[in-house]
Order: sequence, then structure tokens, then C-alpha cells
Amino acid sequence: MICELRASFFLLAAMHILAAADSPPPPRFTFNGFHGASLRLNGGSFVEPNGLLRLNNNTRQEVSHAFYPFPFLFRNSSSGDPLSFSTSFVFAIVPQYHDVSSHGLAFAVSPSSNLSAALPSQHLGLFNLTNNGEATNHILAVEIDTIQNIEFEDINDNHVGIDLNGLTSLASAPAAFAVDDSTELHNFQNLSLISGEPLRVWAEYDGKKMQLNVTLAPLHIPKPHLPLLSSKVNLSSIVLDEMYVGFSASTGAAAGSHYVLGWSFSSNGSAEELKLSDLPSLPPREEVDRGKKTKVLVIVIPISVILFLVIAAVGVALLIKQAKKFAEVMEDWEIEYRPHRFSYRDLYKATRGFCEANILGKGGFGDVYRGILPKSNVEIAVKRISHGSRQGMKEFIAEIASIGRLRHRNLVQLLGYCRRLGELLLVYDFMPNGSLDRYIFGRAEESLSWSQRFKIIKGIAASLLYLHEEWEKVVIHRDVKASNVLLDSKFDGKLGDFGLAKLYDRGCNPQTTRVVGTLGYLAPELSRSGKFTSSSDVFAFGAFLLEVACGKRPVELKTSGIEMVLVDWVLEFLMKGELLEARNRKFAGEFAREEVEMV
Ligand SMILES: *[C@@H]1O[C@H](CO)[C@@H](O)[C@H](O)[C@H]1NC(C)=O
Ligand SMILES: *[C@@H]1O[C@H](CO)[C@@H](O)[C@H](O)[C@H]1NC(C)=O
Ligand SMILES: *[C@@H]1O[C@H](CO)[C@@H](O)[C@H](O)[C@H]1NC(C)=O
Ligand SMILES: *[C@@H]1O[C@H](CO)[C@@H](O)[C@H](O)[C@H]1NC(C)=O
Ligand SMILES: *[C@@H]1O[C@H](CO)[C@@H](O)[C@H](O)[C@H]1NC(C)=O
Ligand SMILES: *[C@@H]1O[C@H](CO)[C@@H](O)[C@H](O)[C@H]1NC(C)=O
Ligand SMILES: *[C@@H]1O[C@H](CO)[C@@H](O)[C@H](O)[C@H]1NC(C)=O
Ligand SMILES: *[C@@H]1O[C@H](CO)[C@@H](O)[C@H](O)[C@H]1NC(C)=O
Repeated sequence: MICELRASFFLLAAMHILAAADSPPPPRFTFNGFHGASLRLNGGSFVEPNGLLRLNNNTRQEVSHAFYPFPFLFRNSSSGDPLSFSTSFVFAIVPQYHDVSSHGLAFAVSPSSNLSAALPSQHLGLFNLTNNGEATNHILAVEIDTIQNIEFEDINDNHVGIDLNGLTSLASAPAAFAVDDSTELHNFQNLSLISGEPLRVWAEYDGKKMQLNVTLAPLHIPKPHLPLLSSKVNLSSIVLDEMYVGFSASTGAAAGSHYVLGWSFSSNGSAEELKLSDLPSLPPREEVDRGKKTKVLVIVIPISVILFLVIAAVGVALLIKQAKKFAEVMEDWEIEYRPHRFSYRDLYKATRGFCEANILGKGGFGDVYRGILPKSNVEIAVKRISHGSRQGMKEFIAEIASIGRLRHRNLVQLLGYCRRLGELLLVYDFMPNGSLDRYIFGRAEESLSWSQRFKIIKGIAASLLYLHEEWEKVVIHRDVKASNVLLDSKFDGKLGDFGLAKLYDRGCNPQTTRVVGTLGYLAPELSRSGKFTSSSDVFAFGAFLLEVACGKRPVELKTSGIEMVLVDWVLEFLMKGELLEARNRKFAGEFAREEVEMV
């Protein structure tokens, strides 16, 4: 009887295998845990006994992949149209040390299941130095990134992004989920990607509408109706007919583990919802083994006496180090500027130790950090300038003190300064929308409309008028340009960074008059006289106007090596009587003809 049953079971199994050999694999799968999933694994990835897929085993500088072994149809081979797909997975990122992130994880759609030529760290195991951004990659990825890389224009150190062929995301958003299913954008609640808690992701692509939605949520929250990211993505040149799907994860200087608890995918309709009760559990966070504690106690007492002495010594050393760490430079003549001074300790706390993640930008004079003043909770921007020579410092501080008294709604307010050995810190009001050049030369979706641009132009004109004519003495800015114009929350333009060019001018050898400013904005007479006047500011303002209206830099070096001078370029259009043709195409749509021509 049993034998018979077995025989028929084998027959049935054999029939299934034979049938499977003929028909294509089904267009969907669901793994609630990865027992028997036979994924293609490499790097540090493996499936733990409880079915948990672990990418990166608490190591540094590691790349791990896990791909489904069979490809899926992603493009209609006869029409070339991208097809819809849908996936859902649960992941957890567990850094070795609480709060020290170790890069991230990505869901990838790739022409190959072998990405072994890709690099760890910020390359997320998807790309390397030579192929990042190349159209030949044919890779779509949803990145879950826990480190901000300025080179790839990452928005912060806790974001989700859509990547096409490279690591500069097409769209990204801070990790969050929509609460109450409200359709209001600001009703998102933030999530920490490195909390070690499992989070769920849905990525759904509608091939007809060419829309990719990415939704994130904590494990036990039902899928929010409002996705975190919803972008128009034309995949027809990205995907090939057949593509592999899988995960890539990488670590960098800090070790960490990336886990996937469950995963479903479908290239025909929605991916099946995961069964949360069937998912494997995460291992407990590695803590001190409690069992060992009692045995250890005997040794602990004598050791603790020694330890106490060591700690006392270390404490004294630390106090000295701490004092050194926060040491400032203060000279007698500075007493009168005391009200304008910030303590280094406050600025250090405000910017979380001038950490990399708080860098807003890297300017010509030094890095700018975002910070929140510890007592008042005021948001600030801190510019950190290394300054070797002391020469000119007294005059410069005097100038800062007077600049600090300037008040105009189109000037970035200077709040004060701090001085350390070889370093000067300037504290400004924080401008949430960053600098204008990003919107003019940056990616198209961030572009500004003509009316916004015109409002900014008028604001900057008003601020220059104030500096040159309306204040008690004439203030020359010396470096008017789009990257020195910052935008507040309402996209009003504010002129920033004045006087800095002067510091550098003075700081250098007085025998060699070096003109500091930016090429393309320097008035012609400057090369002869070397003297900045309000007229040279006005010349730079002119270059700025063209920049904003045309979306081009005043001097652009073409790939052919030929310089394109914007003024000459615009003049050519003017001669031909087609001035409007020189305008930036990004503000297509409505614009007032007369205004553009006036500018
Ligand atoms: C993962 O790391 C742990 C601890 O270092 C080690 O015991 C284990 O063997 C590793 N597993 C694999 C599959 O490498
Ligand atoms: C592929 O495109 C052809 C022609 O446009 C169409 O007839 C067919 O239904 C499409 N197939 C799929 C799976 O969408
Ligand atoms: C993956 O590709 C590399 C070359 O890029 C090759 O050396 C390696 O053998 C491949 N691995 C597999 C499993 O095919
Ligand atoms: C980068 O990756 C591509 C494709 O995976 C590979 O062909 C190339 O050799 C890699 N480059 C380097 C420098 O490893
Ligand atoms: C959520 O995070 C974003 C970006 O990190 C931040 O601007 C925002 O203030 C945060 N919101 C809350 C409610 O904490
Ligand atoms: C993406 O989200 C929008 C709502 O934000 C919805 O209208 C659309 O149907 C969604 N698309 C997919 C493929 O889920
Ligand atoms: C998508 O891209 C392809 C080629 O890149 C292009 O031919 C097609 O018109 C695009 N479709 C849409 C709707 O933009
Ligand atoms: C796709 O799903 C529909 C129903 O949801 C089914 O009728 C159809 O056979 C499926 N297509 C394939 C290729 O499995």
C-alpha cells in the first residue's frame, strides 16, 4: 500500500517536472522566508537555518547579491514597450554599532544575475567607477540608502531612491510613510532605515502609464494608499526583453548586516501580499552573553580597581583633549565684537561634530554645514573657512560685525562668527532651498518657472541697491553669482557670502594683487585696476541675469575645448532679432515676453 502510494507520488512528481520543462516558469513567485528558494547568491549572502536571507555577514567593504535564478519578461519584444511588474519585500538593516550606518540595500532589475564587477560602499554593489551612469548598464534599482553621498546628489543619509543605470537618483525621498491614508503630502511620518526593525517595501510599475511607485511602511502597517515615490519612468530603453530580479547590498567603512525576510514578485498583476506570520524572525541583537556574567564576576572586582585608576587617568587626559578640541582664538581687540561671537562648543553640537552628513555644500571658501543651535533650536548654516594668515583678520572681523548689522529681506542674515587656530566659522540663517545654481543648472524637475526666476532677479537687484546706496556706507559684494544666491522656503532669493572675496584678497601677499572673484563675472576693468567698485558688482549682476534667463554659465567650456562666452552668445541672438531664442528651455510654458526681453 505504502509502496504504491510512493510510486504514484513519484510518477506525479515526474509528470510535474516534465511539464515544467515545456512550459515557461510562472511569471510570479512568493517567498515567505527563503527555505528552498534556490536563489543565486554571491558575496556574503546566505540563507540562515530559519529561512532568513542574510546579505553581508557583519563585515566591512563587502558586496552581496541574491538574484532569482530565472529571468522574467520586462519588455514586449514585438512592440518594445516596457511591461508592468510588481514586487514586495521585507528587509532590515542592522548596523554593527547603533547609529553608524553601513551603506544600503537595493532591489535591482538587471540583465545579468552576476554583478560581481560592482563595488561596495556607495556603489551599493550595483555599479563601479567605470560604468556608473552608462546607458549600457540596463539596470533599474530602488535604492535604500543610509549614507549621504554628495557626488551622487543624495538628499540625506536616510532615503529611498529610484536609480536608472547609475547612482544619481532620478527621484528620491527621505524614508517615510503616509499616515491616515491622507492624500496630503506633509502627512508623512519619518522612518529610520538603520533602526534594525523590519520594514516593508512595495515597488509597482505600470507599463502603460510608465509610472513607478515605491511605498515604504513599518511591518505591521497595511500598505499606505499614498506611495512615497511616484515617478514617470520610461523603461523602454532601460530594460531588455528578459531581466533578472534580485537584491544587492553593500557595506563600507562600518560593518553591518542586511536582511531580507520575505519577497514576492509578479510580472503579471500585483505581487502576492507576504504572510507576515510566516516570515522568519531576525536574530537577537548581539549583546553581552548573560550566562558568562556570573563566572566573570570573580575576576571583575580586582580588575575594576585597576580600571578605576585607568579611567581616572583617561578622564584627566580627555578633559585636556576636550579643552583643546573646543579651543578658540580670542584676541584683545575682539572684545568689542563679543556679541557677534558663537562658542565653538555650541557650533560643534549644532552640527553634530561637523559630521559629513550635515554638509550642505562645498563652496570655494570652505564647506557649509547645517546645524541646529542647542539652546534655541534655531536652524543655522555654518561656513567653515580655513584661514592660514592672521593678516587682515582684524579688519575682516570688523567688517563681519558691520555686515551683521545689515538688514534686508533679500540678504542672507549673518548671525555671527567664531575663530579658532587657522579656522574661521561664519554663522548664517539657514536657507532651506539651497543655492539657486542647483535649480538653473541642475536636473530638469527642479527647475524654476519664469515668474519665480523674475521674482528672484528683482529681489537680488533690491539687495544690491541696498548694499550700494541705501545703507550707511557702500558695501561691495565682490562675488555676485547664482551659486551665491540662496533660496528660502518661499523661493525668495537672498544674496549671501559677501565680503569673503575680500578676506582672501587681503590675506594673500599684498605685492601680487590677485583678483579674487569668479571667471565670467569679473568686469573687464578689474584685470587692469584690480579694484572692486559698485560698478564691478553691477557687471557681475548682469552676468547673473543672463545666467538665470538662459540657464547657462557665463563661460562654458565645451567638450571641444572652445569657450562659449554667454554675453557673446546672447548678442548673436540679439543681432539676428531672435532674442527670445536664447532663453532657457526649461521654463517652457508660460512666461512674459517683455520681462524676458527686459532681462
Ligand atoms: C557569519 O559570521 C559569524 C560571526 O562572525 C560566523 O560565525 C558565521 O560562520 C558567518 N557565516 C557565514 C555563512 O559566513
Ligand atoms: C505585445 O505587443 C503586440 C503588438 O503591439 C501586442 O499585440 C501584444 O498583445 C503585446 N503583448 C503583451 C504581452 O503585452
Ligand atoms: C561572474 O562574472 C565574473 C566576471 O565578471 C566571473 O569571473 C565569474 O565567474 C562569474 N560568476 C558566475 C557565477 O558566473
Ligand atoms: C565595471 O563593471 C563592468 C560591467 O559590470 C565591467 O565590464 C568592468 O570591467 C568593470 N570595471 C572595473 C574597473 O572593474
Ligand atoms: C522628517 O525628515 C525630514 C528629512 O530628514 C525632515 O525635514 C522632517 O522635519 C522630518 N519630519 C519629522 C516630523 O520629524
Ligand atoms: C501610483 O500611485 C498613484 C497615486 O499616487 C496611483 O494613482 C497609481 O495608480 C499608482 N500606480 C501603480 C502602478 O500602483
Ligand atoms: C520612451 O523612450 C523611448 C526610447 O527611449 C521613446 O521612443 C518613447 O517615445 C518614449 N515613450 C514615452 C511615452 O515617452
Ligand atoms: C496573467 O494573469 C491572468 C489573470 O490574472 C491570467 O489569466 C494569465 O494567464 C496570466 N498570464 C500568464 C502569462 O501567466
